[in-house]
Amino acid sequence: MFQPVKIAPSILSADFMNLERDIRMIERGGAGYVHIDVMDGHFVPNLTIGVPHVKQLSKITDLPLDVHLMIANPLEQLPWFIEAGADMVTVHAETLEGQWLDRAIALIHDGGAQACMAIKPNTPVDVVVPHIADLDMVLVMSVEPGFSGQKYIEGSERKVAAVAQLARDAGNEKLLIEVDGGIGQANVGRVTSVGADVIVCGNAVFAAEDPAEAIRAIAAAGDETR
Ligand code: DX5
Ligand code: ZN
Repeated sequence: MFQPVKIAPSILSADFMNLERDIRMIERGGAGYVHIDVMDGHFVPNLTIGVPHVKQLSKITDLPLDVHLMIANPLEQLPWFIEAGADMVTVHAETLEGQWLDRAIALIHDGGAQACMAIKPNTPVDVVVPHIADLDMVLVMSVEPGFSGQKYIEGSERKVAAVAQLARDAGNEKLLIEVDGGIGQANVGRVTSVGADVIVCGNAVFAAEDPAEAIRAIAAAGDETR
């Protein structure tokens, strides 16, 4: 059955002094999620936002909160994010050894949230194989995590296609594939045509003159290829 592409605007590119206004704008545009980039200055060089922001955001919007943890110790902190209102929690495969990734997925599910595993551009897709049956989503990074406004890494679409194949092989028909970094109306089709379901957009939404319209245009361009 046809499933429309969902856009997850990354508030890293929003106006933090007018965050509620920006949330209303993306709600109007039909965003599927609010993407929240949590960075700790260790796993990635940048330092951004954390638990209190998730807590406040959960009070002002009904959009599901898609929390992308770019932190070195996700096992310790992920319960706090769930408690604060995260609906989807993404842990990077590079941060934990195998059995601890299983533990993270179990903790996320026990907390009533959906579990997602992210892979950096140089991480092979095979690392998701032992976990794919238990995951709700896999996030393919199409830029090096750390900063918004970077250029899409060519060839990332091949990793999206590979994850889609792995999900089919594992019989996980419901697995969502999210792609994050450097995506806008011009290149969204590259990833949606090979199986991406959720598209994170920072600059392409918040630097647009009309962010609500940008969300609709990116989603429409993605849907055309599905
Ligand atoms: C990068 C973040 C992304 C980023 C997306 O580490 O995970 O979510 O903010 O921003 P754009 O769409 O501008 O690349
Ligand atoms: Zn992100």
